[in-house]
Amino acid sequence: MHSRRALLYMPGDNWKMITKSITLGVDCICMDMEDGTAINKKAEARATITRALRELDFGASERLARINSVGSGWEKDDIEAVLPYHPHGIVIPKVEAFDQVEWASRIIESAELMHGWQVNSIRVLIGVETAKGILNLKEIAAHPRLDAIIFGGEDFAASVGATRTKEATELLYARQAVVVACAANDLQAIDIVNIDYRDIEALRAEAEFGARLGYSGKQIIHPAQVQPVQTAFTPNDETIVHARRIVETFEASQREGKGAYSLDGKMIDKPLLKNAQKVLDRAKAAGK
Ligand code: COA
Ligand code: MG
Repeated sequence: MHSRRALLYMPGDNWKMITKSITLGVDCICMDMEDGTAINKKAEARATITRALRELDFGASERLARINSVGSGWEKDDIEAVLPYHPHGIVIPKVEAFDQVEWASRIIESAELMHGWQVNSIRVLIGVETAKGILNLKEIAAHPRLDAIIFGGEDFAASVGATRTKEATELLYARQAVVVACAANDLQAIDIVNIDYRDIEALRAEAEFGARLGYSGKQIIHPAQVQPVQTAFTPNDETIVHARRIVETFEASQREGKGAYSLDGKMIDKPLLKNAQKVLDRAKAAGK
């Protein structure tokens, strides 16, 4: 799976921001036709994204297009506009039911077959960011086409009438529900946007907290957010060294017939091994 520590949005009709995004070394570039694009610019966004997919070299960044939600009335035109230019993935926002993923999945598969592309070569990421979506996570997250679930904090707050705070305690239940559904289905979990793009310290703290919850990446909306978020979702050297030591010593202790043992005065057993392996997987995915 593509590493998705930082997923940068920009309005799909904004050619300047799209061309800027390819210079940033960001993991994912998500050209948006949904809420970042004004209602009277939807057609222009489709045309601009199509042009970007045709003309620009995105380098190592993943090329994603976010369509409008299934049921909005725009979704079909959105997806049909971009599919012929083979984006790496389609992002579907505000998913509330399994059938909505299935709808997109069928259209994508027929495009893949029609163009002679490998089936599943276009990935699907979904936003689960409403009360209904959170309640239906169990069914939605089991869809075989998915790579990742994105949790939208602002949309979720709007959906339940919560007041957003810096601490984001009002989001915690849903934010953790998404991580759990992702872990249960081996999906990447992509955390909330921090809209206060000038406050990099707050962004860093929020990103680190998301990583501690188990998120693998975070949505961003401004170039200044790329580096701090990529750092927060890349295990640091100390953590990697410690994880390696756990993996090595665990094997030795198993051979000695011990399930639990002591390392630097702390108890190590199976769950700590699993966690250490996850750290090493993430480090590897981030190219470390
Ligand atoms: N992607 C790529 N480039 C971006 C960018 C983005 N999301 N946001 C800003 N930039 C560029 C600007 O074009 C500007 O480029 P320049 O220096 O070459 O002129 C530079 O980064 C600095 O931008 P700045 O002036 O600090 O921000 P702004 O006032 O132009 O824009 C926002 C602020 C919030 C309007 C803008 O960041 C934005 O639209 N973000 C994405 C919003 C979005 O897509 N929302 C929907 C999903 S949640
Ligand atoms: Mg949203």
